[in-house]
Amino acid sequence: MRISVIGCGYLGAVHAASMAELGHDVVGIDVDRSKVEALQRAEAPFYEPGFEDLLGTTLATGRLRFSTDMADAREATVHFLCVGTPQKKGEYAADLRYVDAAIESLLDVLKPGDLVAGKSTVPVGTAARLAELVSGKVPGAMLAWNPEFLREGFAVQDTLHPDRLVYGLPEGPEADTARARLDEVYAAIVTAGTPQVVTDYATAEMVKTAANSFLATKISFINAMAELCEATGADVKLLADAIGHDDRIGRKFLNAGLGFGGGCLPKDIRAFMARAGELGADQALAFLREVDSINMRRRIRMVELAREVCDGSLLGKRIAVLGAAFKPDSDDIRDSPALNVAAQLQLQGAVVRVTDPAAGDNIRTSWPQLDVVDTPEQAAERADAVLLLTEWAQYRELDPVAFGELVTQKRVLDGRNALDRDRWTAAGWTYRALGRRAG
Ligand code: UGA
Repeated sequence: MRISVIGCGYLGAVHAASMAELGHDVVGIDVDRSKVEALQRAEAPFYEPGFEDLLGTTLATGRLRFSTDMADAREATVHFLCVGTPQKKGEYAADLRYVDAAIESLLDVLKPGDLVAGKSTVPVGTAARLAELVSGKVPGAMLAWNPEFLREGFAVQDTLHPDRLVYGLPEGPEADTARARLDEVYAAIVTAGTPQVVTDYATAEMVKTAANSFLATKISFINAMAELCEATGADVKLLADAIGHDDRIGRKFLNAGLGFGGGCLPKDIRAFMARAGELGADQALAFLREVDSINMRRRIRMVELAREVCDGSLLGKRIAVLGAAFKPDSDDIRDSPALNVAAQLQLQGAVVRVTDPAAGDNIRTSWPQLDVVDTPEQAAERADAVLLLTEWAQYRELDPVAFGELVTQKRVLDGRNALDRDRWTAAGWTYRALGRRAG
């Protein structure tokens, strides 16, 4: 099939290469010339394990190319909308300007019979509005909503082997045509027995925001338990293990620590609340405000804990920060809890040295005031405290004995409950973590 993918960020670039991997002829379109040129040279503009290899192999087949010109989408019959929907400045609502701009320029090349498939995370009601624009301008063209659930760090795997396919279809006879077209696009995934949920626009849009809200709630739930553990002397890690054994609860997404960040969960729960307010149903999502504030409180608590271990004052204290991306296996620093803590420490007078295996360049560009070094050893040199804020595998595996030789004070704060407390304390470190007793 001939496919266009509009918007080549994490979602679109991975989707475009994955569709080519499935055998389709794909053009990825983005307004950012430097991104398009990098992708065309088989260089990933962001860190995503496995993506650059996939990009290289699919470009080499001749089935994938990238362009800044929407006219190149003219040959395609299915057009995936993958542009970003960030939080509006100064408001909770989603900023739909990229979605609107993409649709407007797509309308110029759309043909009767074409299918527009929305993948971006949008406020419920957006698909119905866009469908009217599509059929109003190009009678016979259709729109479906087909949300994407990929996680950064696992983007290729999640796109090629998703947990489920969700199709939000138009009403009436077009539904069967749109469904058949999507089934053809995803033939290999459908044949593999992937569950499908076939529904209307509103449900499909809500599946995405509901899923992210649930994940955020689960994380904030365990972080609220961590606050209580701090007050009672209980251990949140063991608590999570114990409740996670119950299949109905499950252990995943119950890792207490610094909480959630990134380009999705925080802005999605806020946009969901804003939309509920517009629909007169704000009470239904009032709990998400608490989810958000529990999450934000963890960052403040981490700074307090750092002050506490630094004998009550951060002024002039040398602090090593291990990890700055919003999660491991990513170079994404959007709303990164780690970076937020690093910046607060620096603003409160500490001498902060940050290191991250992938996000170094992004921090240097966006936060030039922070001292970024290449290795954890450089960060730890003469440190008064070491903070693990993003749980990269290489940080989990550090040797606490050798690492202890570098610092002035063997104090480690585990912001992700990721280190082996016994190993670190055996090596003479004072170990502190969110939701756990001091070791
Ligand atoms: C999230 C969802 O997991 C994806 O399904 C969704 O498609 C995506 O948003 C999106 O909307 O595009 P992602 O933002 O890549 O994916 O990251 P997650 O793996 O969900 O992690 C989010 C944050 O939660 C990270 O900061 C992570 O450190 C934190 N987290 C995760 C915890 O604090 N504790 C946990 O137990 C799990």
